[in-house]
Amino acid sequence: MRSAGQKTEQLLPVMTGQPVIPVLKIDRLEDAVPLARALARGGLPAIEITLRTPVALDAIRAASDAVPEAIVGAGTILNPEQFSQAVAAGARFIVSPGLTPALIDAAAASPIPLLPGAITPGEIMAAGDAGYSLLKFFPAEQAGGAAFLKALSSPLAGVRFCPTGGIGAKNADDYLSLPNVICVGGSWIAPDALVAAGKWDEIEALAREAAGLTRA
Ligand code: 3PG
Repeated sequence: MRSAGQKTEQLLPVMTGQPVIPVLKIDRLEDAVPLARALARGGLPAIEITLRTPVALDAIRAASDAVPEAIVGAGTILNPEQFSQAVAAGARFIVSPGLTPALIDAAAASPIPLLPGAITPGEIMAAGDAGYSLLKFFPAEQAGGAAFLKALSSPLAGVRFCPTGGIGAKNADDYLSLPNVICVGGSWIAPDALVAAGKWDEIEALAREAAGLTRA
């Protein structure tokens, strides 16, 4: 297993640049560009387009090409093949719900940084051994929520998280106030119904509200 560390110099600016990273599931390719534009206008240029729909890679390509102000990342990356496909489509950062030896090798061979997921102390320590100290924490609410993350902050000091899963406008502050949380991720900024209806101004307003959240 190779490990060249996490490329934190590339990843940290993405995670510190905004308190919330929108997690997007794009069903219609034509939504990618106006959605990325609306989120950037609202103050959330970094977005994670998840590989959960057939058009996801094309959506990453379209948003990367047409929205220079956006920082387009790829999410739900489970294996090296998806890692390469997302990078080829223009993804500037890669997010995975977990971390495997195969993903560590793919990331080590790529100039593009990886934000991998870990939940348990053992998973977090194994990620640390592989050079990863910036981690996704997913599914946050279901795995124990802000109280769980807070309990990790003392024994596993030095690890910083982007929790996602079940986070919304109501509980984002619970996470953002923790010392070991840099940003949170979530789909609440781009609800399916607003995307389907092309209500880009409303999405921009949700983004602006999220962009105004404060961190510890
Ligand atoms: C993710 O992949 O990070 C989550 O699916 C986002 O979770 P949410 O839809 O509950 O915000």
